Amino acid sequence: MTAKKLIAANWKMNGSKALVDTMAQQLTNLPSGVDVLLCPPATLLQYFPANRQYALGAQNISEHDAGAYTGELSSNLIIEAGANFVLIGHSERRQYFAETDTLVCAKMQQAVKAGLTPVLCIGETLAEHQQQKTQQVIAKQLAAVYAAQPELLLKSVIAYEPVWAIGTGESATPEQAQAIHAFIRQQISDYNSVAAATVKILYGGSVNAANCRALFAKADIDGALVGGASLKPAEFMQICQSAKD
Ligand code: 13P
Repeated sequence: MTAKKLIAANWKMNGSKALVDTMAQQLTNLPSGVDVLLCPPATLLQYFPANRQYALGAQNISEHDAGAYTGELSSNLIIEAGANFVLIGHSERRQYFAETDTLVCAKMQQAVKAGLTPVLCIGETLAEHQQQKTQQVIAKQLAAVYAAQPELLLKSVIAYEPVWAIGTGESATPEQAQAIHAFIRQQISDYNSVAAATVKILYGGSVNAANCRALFAKADIDGALVGGASLKPAEFMQICQSAKD
């Protein structure tokens, strides 16, 4: 819906200093018609060049300000490392690290309080998909955030990532994704029509250079959150280029 697409990379627990160097080299000539965000492991944030045409994000944030929370990263640490965005509620965090909607909301509030833009990840599991509960699941995930603090949705990017499409090579079809994105925008519109008009809704789940164009052609798909293909500099650049027109 919004003019400029946002292409975000989620490296997950992959990458290296060497990949930062090749990616930074590859992304020196990004087209101006697209916004790009890289979310590498937080320890790699410091190695990106200061003079760059893309933003950086972390993959997780603590819900606490500071203190005795071994292994966690606060909003201040993330900002000092050079990031302006943070992924929150990725399905892998929900699944493997028991992140509930309540915790996701606390992290969203922490991020927004510090001036970080949250990329709120939502989506249904395979079982929920098969039981046709997609809309129900998504509505609940969004409602939790709205209930925690209505302004959060105004300040966020949303990433719709059907869990069954993540890392499987089986992307949602452009039609499936568009239908859910339209539903998400409608839900947000019920809360706040201004937010609905401006929020970026990214699709994530097996996005690659071959399937991205058809996804980007859909009215409510404002970009992508790319996993595996974001670790391949040439392919990631191709995806960014496909989003500029
Ligand atoms: P893949 O692109 O590897 O399916 O991962 C998607 C994802 O989880 C991005 O956050």
